[in-house]
Amino acid sequence: MDFPPATATEASQERVADRITPESCVVFLTGAGVSAESGVPTFRGEDGIWNNFRPEELANFDSFLRNPARVQSWYRHRSEIVTSVQPNAGHIAIADLQWKVNACVVITQNVDNLHQRAGSETVIELHGSILRNYCIECGEPYHGDFNQKDSSVITCPCGGTVRPDVVWFGETLPENTFRAAEEQTGQSDIFLVVGTSGVVYPAAGLVHLAKESGAFLVEVNIQPTELTPLMDVSLFGKSGEILPGIVERLEA
Ligand code: OAD
Repeated sequence: MDFPPATATEASQERVADRITPESCVVFLTGAGVSAESGVPTFRGEDGIWNNFRPEELANFDSFLRNPARVQSWYRHRSEIVTSVQPNAGHIAIADLQWKVNACVVITQNVDNLHQRAGSETVIELHGSILRNYCIECGEPYHGDFNQKDSSVITCPCGGTVRPDVVWFGETLPENTFRAAEEQTGQSDIFLVVGTSGVVYPAAGLVHLAKESGAFLVEVNIQPTELTPLMDVSLFGKSGEILPGIVERLEA
């Protein structure tokens, strides 16, 4: 693959900041990398979750039915991580940007609620939220204690088994959620792809849609990805360092 030069220089941050005006519609597509500096492990890469756990045993409906207590306990562990960490400078820069432009939407593959905790008001959660659970029988949200410490299966008052409200492998994204993401993407002037490997579809397909719709494409990642050749500007480095550098350059 032919990559543009690896640049997270002041000049390239300036170039991105120059494209963003008070009239801009800015859309972010974020992935696990934006939360890495908060201490939430990513899925792929050197210390990625999927190096130690098999997604087919933990993130799919059949494995859940085979061993619900195990899957519940793994999600309990992950929800304890995400609730114990704090949004980082990258999340905060994204939230700050919303006050400087006409519209700012965050489309995220993350289930960790950190964009919302940083103050972003319009967040489309493509893969759901680890903080919500529902019953697979009656479909009702489950508000009971998901963090019970014993190893019994957590069930709804109706007797059905409770699952996290996240999208698993082999499941389709909620239709309305994805449609909203497509609409926002199609209206974006600037589309920033932050901290995602871009290998999971249909989320990664939004980047192609943004390109076709004529948005200015910016990637922020510590390394090149499969999406890099589509970008107008690639900024290689940590999102918690690069994003504040862009937002600080904008007029208040
Ligand atoms: P990945 O783990 O695939 O990719 C994380 C990306 O973040 C990589 O490209 C890293 O280079 C980059 N990265 C790491 N630290 C960074 C930092 N500090 N700043 C900027 N970039 C950084 O995670 P996702 O692309 O989010 O789906 O994965 C997509 C989906 O695959 C997830 O939502 C999840 C997973 O399986 C489901 O569970 C359905």
